[in-house]
Formats: sequence, C-alpha cells, structure tokens
Amino acid sequence: MDTRTADVQISIRHEIVGEEAEQLWAFYNDIFGPLNEESPCRQSLHHGDFIALLGSAEFVKFVARDANKATLGFTAFATLKEEMPLMPWISTEYFRKRWPEFWGRIIYVPIIGVPRDARALGAGKELMLQILQYMREHSIPLIGFDHSVGNIPYLPDLIMRITNGKPMGSLSKRKELDSQAYYLLRDQYQLPEE
Ligand SMILES: CC(C)(COP(=O)(O)OP(=O)(O)OC[C@H]1O[C@@H](n2cnc3c(N)ncnc32)[C@H](O)[C@@H]1OP(=O)(O)O)[C@@H](O)C(=O)NCCC(=O)NCCS
Repeated sequence: MDTRTADVQISIRHEIVGEEAEQLWAFYNDIFGPLNEESPCRQSLHHGDFIALLGSAEFVKFVARDANKATLGFTAFATLKEEMPLMPWISTEYFRKRWPEFWGRIIYVPIIGVPRDARALGAGKELMLQILQYMREHSIPLIGFDHSVGNIPYLPDLIMRITNGKPMGSLSKRKELDSQAYYLLRDQYQLPEE
C-alpha cells in the first residue's frame, strides 16, 4: 500500500471534456454521492454542473494519479467573481465586501476528493499542497473552502498541518467564517417516539 504514497503524480488541467469528463464524473460521484446520505446539506454537484465545471477554464483542476495512471484524487478551484453559477451556495458579495483590496485574487475550492480505498496514502495532502503552492506562485492571498463537519471533521486541522515544515513555510492562517444549522420539527402526535 505504502508504495503508492510516493507515486502520487499531479497534473494541472483547465478544460476536461468528452469521455474523460464522464470518467471523472463517475470517480467524483462515487466519492461525493454517498455523502449526500450523511448530510442535509447537499455535498455534490449534479451531473450537468460537474461536467460544466470540468469544461470551464475558469476552474483550475488538479488530478492525482498513481504510477499506473489510475486516478487517486481530484480537486478544482476558481477565482471568485461576481457571478459563480457553478458555486451557487457561495456569497461572492461576502468576500468582495470584506476583502475589496484582494477582490479578483481570492480563490475558492469547492471540491477535493480521494476515493475511500485510496485514502490515507497521501493523495489528499499532495493535492492540498499543490493548491497552497498555486497560492504562492499566483500571489493569491486568500483561499476559501467549506466542508461537512459531520463527514470530515478533521479537514481544517489537516490543512493547517500540511504546511508545517514545508519549504514554502507556514503560509496559512485559518479563520472560521460561518456555520449553518439544520433543523427538523417533529409532530409529536404523529411521531411520538424518537
Ligand atoms: C479529505 C480527503 C480528500 C483526504 O484525502 P486522503 O488522501 O485520505 O488524505 P491523505 O492521505 O493525504 O491525508 C490523510 C490525513 O488525514 C489524517 N486523518 C485521517 N482520518 C483522520 C481523523 N479521523 N482524524 C484526524 N486526522 C485524520 C491522516 O492522519 C492523514 O494525516 P497524516 O498523514 O499527517 O497522519 C478525503 O478524506 C476525502 O476525499 N473525503 C471525502 C470528500 C470530502 O469531504 N472532501 C472535502 C470537502 S470538498
């Protein structure tokens, strides 16, 4: 298993279309589709939006593969602008109002995923490091991301940990921006028992 750890190769992509896009959809949907059963907040894009994201050069994509070219992980991110129809849950106004001096240089990461059978081999961390490297190389001052706390509570801590001791130095500081609560009301007469 560990041999795959050292073999993670990352390629940067801008437009992915056709059969390769459909293959990545299957890869993505296998990771994120089941998470929708674990959270009341939708955890994945629908097929059409995911294919549109792959074909849009606005979104930078990193694909992690092993030495045999098998896909190990995927991430995509975009520079925020006024209209982000493929990330409708993000208030671009929020970022623009708070960081007007950085507007046009704030990126948002809506997807980072590694399949369950390839986890804990380093692919996820390598993808995160590549994003942080991109941040440095493109003078990106801010990166936004969100995640389901129930699904993957350790993600923010992991991101903070991976820069420690790296040549790029400790470039990240983290701030929690908001959280959202989901409620359910039960009619105690129809559903008396929990
Ligand atoms: C987040 C994700 C991409 C990480 O991928 P990965 O390939 O398993 O990550 P890596 O192998 O590079 O690193 C895993 C790290 O997480 C740590 N980790 C794993 N489970 C953990 C847990 N329950 N608590 C704390 N740390 C944990 C491991 O210790 C390891 O860190 P270390 O090597 O420093 O010890 C993967 O879990 C995933 O795809 N999750 C589902 C999709 C998702 O929720 N994505 C985020 C929102 S878009």
